[in-house]
Amino acid sequence: MIVEGANRNCKILTDHSYKNVGDLIPTRKVIFITDDNVYNHYPDFFQAHPHIILPAGESQKSLATIESLYRQLLDKKIDRHSFIVGFGGGVITDITGYLASTFYRGVPFGFIASSFLAQVDAAIGGKNGVNLDKYKNLIGTINQPSFVICDTELLQSLDQEILKDGIMEALKHFAIRDGSRFDWLMNNKQAILNKDDTILKELVKTAAQIKVDIVNQDENESGIRKLLNFGHSYGHAIEKLSGLSHGKSIAIGMQMAGKLSHQLGYCNKEVYLQLCEAIKAFDMPINSDLPFASLIDVIAKDKKKVDASIDYIFLKNIGQASIERIPLTTLSSLRNI
Ligand SMILES: NC(=O)c1ccc[n+]([C@@H]2O[C@H](COP(=O)([O-])OP(=O)(O)OC[C@H]3O[C@@H](n4cnc5c(N)ncnc54)[C@H](O)[C@@H]3O)[C@@H](O)[C@H]2O)c1
Repeated sequence: MIVEGANRNCKILTDHSYKNVGDLIPTRKVIFITDDNVYNHYPDFFQAHPHIILPAGESQKSLATIESLYRQLLDKKIDRHSFIVGFGGGVITDITGYLASTFYRGVPFGFIASSFLAQVDAAIGGKNGVNLDKYKNLIGTINQPSFVICDTELLQSLDQEILKDGIMEALKHFAIRDGSRFDWLMNNKQAILNKDDTILKELVKTAAQIKVDIVNQDENESGIRKLLNFGHSYGHAIEKLSGLSHGKSIAIGMQMAGKLSHQLGYCNKEVYLQLCEAIKAFDMPINSDLPFASLIDVIAKDKKKVDASIDYIFLKNIGQASIERIPLTTLSSLRNI
C-alpha cells in the first residue's frame, strides 16, 4: 500500500518485520523515539539502536515535549541529513511526525507503529501534532513519513484493553466503508481477541487499506477524509470530559452518531442497532452518564466547526456514510429512541 502525499509517498508495510527496519533507512545517522512502555517490551531492539525514551501517555503530546526533544536532537548531532524513526503507538507517531517535520524544517522520518490503533489509523495519513492546553491535536502538520511498518508481531505484547480500544477505529472504518468486512469483524471477534496472528494481519491490512484509499483521495481533509471522523464529535467531547480512553469514548460517540443518523432519517433502526451490537460485542460501552448539555458545550468549541455549523458524518447503512453540513443546534436534538 502506498499513500501518495503532496510532499512524498509513504509505504505502508504490513509484511515487514520491525527487526528489519534498517533495510528501509538510507545509511544515515538514525535516532529512534519511543516511550518507556514500548522500550520495556523490546529492550534488545533498543539496545542495538540509538534512541530517546519518553514517558508513555497522552500528556506527552505537548509543545514542551517537542522543545525538549529539539534540544536532545541537537545534543545528539542529529541534522537534516539524519533519519528519525518513531517506534510506538499513536502518541509517539504523532509526536515524532511533528518533531521531524519541523526540526531543521524537515528531517526524513518513518514509523514502526506498535499499537493496533497506530497500525490501522494514527500512523497512516501524515497527520501529526500535539495538544495545546485542552485542545487536542491543535498544533501539527500534514506530512507523510517515508514508511510505516505495521508488524502484527508487536501486538502480542499489547494490553487487551488497549487492543479493544484500537479495534473501535477499525470497526469505524468498516462501518463507513465496507459492510462485508464489518460482518467479517463480527465473525472473527474471538480470534481477534485471542490475538490470532493470521486474523490480526488480515484485519490490519483491510482496515489500513480503507484509510489509505481515503487519504489518497483527500490528503488535506477538505472532503471525503472527513468520513473518518464518524463518532468523533460526541466522542472527543466524551474523552475530554470523562477521561475515558479514546476507544471507549469513540465507541459511545459512534452509538450517538448512529442514533442521530436514525433520528434524522439517514438510516433505519436496524442499522443503528447493528452498530450498537457490534460495539458491545467487543465489550465496549455505548452510553455515558455525562450531562448531555456539557457535551454540546464542548462540541460548540470543536476546531472542526465552521461558524455555527459542523460537517457531520451520518451512517446510511453498515458500510456507507455521508458528510452533511448541519447547524450545531442539530447535535443538541438527539433524543432517546
Ligand atoms: N494522526 C492521526 O491521524 C491520528 C489518528 C487517530 C489517533 N491519533 C492519536 O493517537 C493517539 C492514541 O494512540 P494509541 O492508542 O496508540 O496510544 P498510545 O501511543 O498512548 O499507546 C497506548 C499504550 O500502548 C502502549 N504500547 C504501544 N505499543 C505497544 C506494544 N507493542 N506493546 C505493549 N504496549 C504498547 C503504549 O506505551 C501506551 O501505553 C492519540 O494521541 C490520538 O490523538 C492520531
